[in-house]
Amino acid sequence: PRIRIADSYEAMSAAAAEAIARRLAARPSLRLALPTGHTPLGMYRRLVEITRREALSWGRARIFLLDEYLGLGAEDPRSFRRYMEEHLLRHLDPAPAVDALDGRAADPAAECARYEEALAREGIDLVVLGIGRNGHIGFNEPGSPFDSRTRVVTLTAETRRANARDFGGDPDAVPPRALTVGIATILEGREIFVLAAGQAKAPAVARAIHGPVDPSLPASVLQRHPQVTWFLDREAARLLD
Ligand code: F6R
Repeated sequence: PRIRIADSYEAMSAAAAEAIARRLAARPSLRLALPTGHTPLGMYRRLVEITRREALSWGRARIFLLDEYLGLGAEDPRSFRRYMEEHLLRHLDPAPAVDALDGRAADPAAECARYEEALAREGIDLVVLGIGRNGHIGFNEPGSPFDSRTRVVTLTAETRRANARDFGGDPDAVPPRALTVGIATILEGREIFVLAAGQAKAPAVARAIHGPVDPSLPASVLQRHPQVTWFLDREAARLLD
């Protein structure tokens, strides 16, 4: 993979945003799959700035979200759909088309099948990922099969603890299940970016890049993809040789 180590979180965010902006400029109909979470907040901020500065147009692009909590609808402030609206979409004019897993779908399995089909039909040019401390990508927790597709999953206690800050600090308030694109779905993206910042991510990053390719650390599967770029700050890169 390509590994880009920045001096700070801000510099990492800027590098990732610049790279996305360049892809969009080269291909206005870019198909992107995007993450939520704390790590990409700086990247989205920069992307909005670059869009304004360079008058980039998102009008022909299409954005897919990687995952969503089961039970949370787009109107819920804690949903990933709302996150994306707040941090990216409402700042883009014209806005790109958006597709997302509906956490309140009456039939979640059918919703996952619909999404998988939409992704396959559009073909994803660029998948942007964060990484969990346990090495998850999307909400594919350790043990997720490498051939997994978009589906309903159960979150680990660790992930619910890590995300409790968005739920009043109470891990039990975090939905126990989620809908996520699968690992095989992610690997079908033509290009993949992974963002990680802070020392808590350093062990997962090092294992993903240099460790054995094994479902116990889902991000290790990225070693099998030919076009991966890691955007790291110094702390997240701390355990790399
Ligand atoms: C979010 C997602 C997750 C996060 C990961 C890191 O859409 O799919 O894999 O990217 O949990 O989250 P943060 O950035 O909050 O540390």
